[in-house]
Amino acid sequence: MKGIILAGGSGTRLHPVTRAISKQLMPVYDKPMVYYPLAVLMLAGIREVLTISTPHDLPLFKKLLGDGDDLGIRIEYAEQAAPNGLAEAFIIGRDFIDADSVCLVLGDNIFHGSGLAKMLQREVDHASGATLFGYRVKDPQRYGVAVFNDGAQDGQLVAVEEKPAQPKSNLAITGLYMYDNEVVDIAAKLQPSPRGELEITDLNNHYIKRGKAKLVDLGRGMAWLDTGTHDSLMEASQYVQVLESRTGVQIACLEEIAWRMGYIDDAKLLAAAAKLGKSSYGEYVKKLALEAKAMER
Ligand code: G1P
Repeated sequence: MKGIILAGGSGTRLHPVTRAISKQLMPVYDKPMVYYPLAVLMLAGIREVLTISTPHDLPLFKKLLGDGDDLGIRIEYAEQAAPNGLAEAFIIGRDFIDADSVCLVLGDNIFHGSGLAKMLQREVDHASGATLFGYRVKDPQRYGVAVFNDGAQDGQLVAVEEKPAQPKSNLAITGLYMYDNEVVDIAAKLQPSPRGELEITDLNNHYIKRGKAKLVDLGRGMAWLDTGTHDSLMEASQYVQVLESRTGVQIACLEEIAWRMGYIDDAKLLAAAAKLGKSSYGEYVKKLALEAKAMER
């Protein structure tokens, strides 16, 4: 399965913070936001990633993430010339996806929780049709929302409604999606919505109508954090800060994930640490590398 990170959009809800720079490059505590969704793909076992962003921001993502070699993965880049909607990712990414299945993660979505990697790997292994990931929230009207048969809070998924004024459940559809290769053709046939965008929700409903969509409820043990407002962005930073300072373990440390997943060896981890310098993040990677080296002896 291939991975796409979509980091486009104009981020107007965070202006003036995001007037000159992409939202997905904003810090969430000690690392850029895009590290978190990239970590999700890496934990899922995905090693070929396409990063899609605006013509203005794409060079900045390239500067930040490079070709992925330091992480033992391959990162490619493509432009989304205008904010034409999330489903356009599969049109832009057509050649990259080729004959493969694909996982799309939105560049501003943060997932964290014990068992996340195992759950992701299980869903990659069993993927067919579309796999959607739901999370129960207090304010579902801000998201795509699951509709179940008979108006129940769970049961059979019959549709997704995009930002409904009267949500029919509290299960939000998160910005993480897995699709079979058919997604490329389905996306190509989508019509723009009244707001002029190719909607991921229309794409998902296409799969649901044909009985080819699966919904995974992430459950209350998982965190799905929002970064859409100044307050929620701050809260996401606080969440990461509290957990990291309490446990001494980093969330979404890409070099650590690459090493633990076996994408890079001890020597490459050490080389990565040397490049990172004196930040707390760099020190953390260095400590890991030195521990790994000590264990070798
Ligand atoms: C998008 C999707 C929505 C989904 C959300 C998750 O909304 O359209 O269905 O629930 O991402 O982050 P956006 O945040 O782009 O408005």
